[in-house]
Amino acid sequence: MHYQRTGLNSKKKTGVIAGSGKLNLDTVELDETDLLRIDDEFGLPSHTPLKLKNSQSDCYLLFRHGRDHHLAPHKINYRANVNSLKRLGVQEIIAINTVGGISSDAHSGSLVMPDQLIDYSWGREHTFSNTENLMHMGFDAPYSESLRDDIHTIAAECGVFVFDGGVYGCTQGPRFETPAEITRMEKDGCTIVGMTGMPEASLAKELGINYASICLVVNPAAGRGEGIDFDEINTVSKIGMRKIERLLRLLLKITES
Ligand code: HPA
Repeated sequence: MHYQRTGLNSKKKTGVIAGSGKLNLDTVELDETDLLRIDDEFGLPSHTPLKLKNSQSDCYLLFRHGRDHHLAPHKINYRANVNSLKRLGVQEIIAINTVGGISSDAHSGSLVMPDQLIDYSWGREHTFSNTENLMHMGFDAPYSESLRDDIHTIAAECGVFVFDGGVYGCTQGPRFETPAEITRMEKDGCTIVGMTGMPEASLAKELGINYASICLVVNPAAGRGEGIDFDEINTVSKIGMRKIERLLRLLLKITES
């Protein structure tokens, strides 16, 4: 028997925001009705979201760096991305992030679902709150526990191992960190490091969207390995993305076309 999602109901509209690794899921362009729902109040998203083909409920896919991967982390319009998914009725977002591993458990090729984060990024449009509408928000739980539980259970069902918990440190990029920066982050408690986890997580929270991140470790963080090897990152990323696709197909009940 297949696991039934606990997260309220299984017919949730889900948004998947994919990152640097190439995620292969069949998609179609949005139909007229969906297109009319999106507005440009916060500017343009990285691209018009795509609809996932053959999923049980409406699911949308957005590549945060753009469809051709041209947007640097600090150039991404996180507000427009999250808002466009909200306008499409999305209630939960599964973020896919490639990261460097800081703790020794977070080795290359592993998947980590963080439960906490530290934001070291700066200068990004990071809130929907404005002068007419000042909004303070608790952020004790940046990642939704129920969504993480769902992902974890499904991952176990399809034989994909995911570390549950960890601290995501979000750096500014696009450069990688220095070993000294990583040592500082480790002292702060970070277990993994990436460049795009924020402000995406807090923007989703502001809009009441459940948010979880599946992080694929593609390299040891600076000073923790032999030096950054981009060929190796590509290889690890390709293999890891196949695992994530398997997990998403089961989670979102995507059937073969
Ligand atoms: N640092 C920051 N972002 C990253 C890394 C890293 O080592 N690897 C993949 N994304």
